[in-house]
Amino acid sequence: MASASRGQWSGKFGFILAAAGSAIGLGNIWRFPYTAGENGGGAFVLIYLVFVFAIGVPVVLSELAIGRKTERNPVGAFKALVPGTMWPWLGGLGIMTGFAILSFYAVIAGWTLSYLYGAIFGTVGDVTTAAESGAVFSALIGDAWLAPVLSFAFILLTAIVVRGGVSSGIEKASKILMPVLFVVLAIMAVRSVTLPGAHEGLEYLFKPDFSKITIGVVVAALGQALFSLSLGMGAMITYGSYFPEKENLPQAGVIVAIFDTSIALLAGLIIFPALFSAGVDPNGGPGLVFVVLPTVFSQLPAGHLFAIGFYALLSIAALTSTISLLEVVVSYFVDEKHWSREKATWLLALGASIFAIPSALSQGAVDFFTTTGGLGIDFLTLQNNIWGNYSLSFGALMLCVFVGWKWGVPAALASLESSGHKLPASALFGFLVRYVCPVAVGIILVYIVITQQYF
Ligand code: TRP
Repeated sequence: MASASRGQWSGKFGFILAAAGSAIGLGNIWRFPYTAGENGGGAFVLIYLVFVFAIGVPVVLSELAIGRKTERNPVGAFKALVPGTMWPWLGGLGIMTGFAILSFYAVIAGWTLSYLYGAIFGTVGDVTTAAESGAVFSALIGDAWLAPVLSFAFILLTAIVVRGGVSSGIEKASKILMPVLFVVLAIMAVRSVTLPGAHEGLEYLFKPDFSKITIGVVVAALGQALFSLSLGMGAMITYGSYFPEKENLPQAGVIVAIFDTSIALLAGLIIFPALFSAGVDPNGGPGLVFVVLPTVFSQLPAGHLFAIGFYALLSIAALTSTISLLEVVVSYFVDEKHWSREKATWLLALGASIFAIPSALSQGAVDFFTTTGGLGIDFLTLQNNIWGNYSLSFGALMLCVFVGWKWGVPAALASLESSGHKLPASALFGFLVRYVCPVAVGIILVYIVITQQYF
């Protein structure tokens, strides 16, 4: 059987941890807070939550259904279900998207490594003001050598795990560390919400100001919901393809979505109170979290130790995410192009490292990339927008069209429920996949194209 040679998760738990490992990462702790801060706070958070449940959960289930049924990578899955059509191209777009996301994600992950180093050997736990912290951060990201080298190091770590294959590598890495991460975050959140002035941050995060909603806010919220759940490029197709036959897949899918969203909100509870307490502007862009967090550590008892624990765990959370990104791309080359896992892993890691360079140099090191050749947006943010918002949104849209109107909701349900475990509210699932997701995402994307408000 295909599944035996492709490897499988050791059980439902193994899957939940690995899928949660993919979902939980810099998307929750770095991307969510800074995107919320750029988009006005509460209203963004509300729309994000609506998208997680109305679009994210149905898409998670759809991807998992396709993966379980076909036991293939995203391209092979569409070839198996609808041979001789254009659908495999959608899988192909997903593969490209995964590769591109890996290349900029690794840059942020590299920053995390540097903060881990700083927490152990240097000053990360000592910085008390946001200004000091900001200076440390600017020096790091503007360093033309350090930033690329750290991103290479991170891709190398990813490649080492992916080369080992699914259950030996990916699963073991997620098993203990995800729960530990949760505990550390919870403690930090308690510290943060009890800082002087914390209520302002809580209000900013949870009190929607509807006048702040623009099409840009809506796209950012949709992109964030999909990015955070690792959707829209086939990662969950690939992960679903390793799911054991007899286990409860619908339940596992929903649990992953709930975990992921809780971690993002927890990160929000850490960042926003601390930010208002330290007098930092929430609209600080991709560096926001890196500047704000050190000010929290300096106010915690044993702050150095906390900082070490936090950056170690964040690096690992990022690693379980980059593993999923690389794994999808590798599984495509292994299954469809018959490369060896070894060759696919090293060549793709090399490619991603090269493609990471312009992003790594776009935060002040090289003017050309800082403005993307005069476009007025830095290369990293541009990649984050194109792949993290637009490509994932387009992928999710087409996936819902595929499941709702081509493959069919009954076929998807049959695959999801093939172990005999039922999806509760399956009629709602059908309605969301067939109507809500395609119409909502379709309108958003068309509106963007018509009004040309891309960034
Ligand atoms: N979800 C991860 C995070 O929040 C990032 C990620 C991993 C991802 N795999 C993905 C995003 C696939 C989109 C698609 O950090």
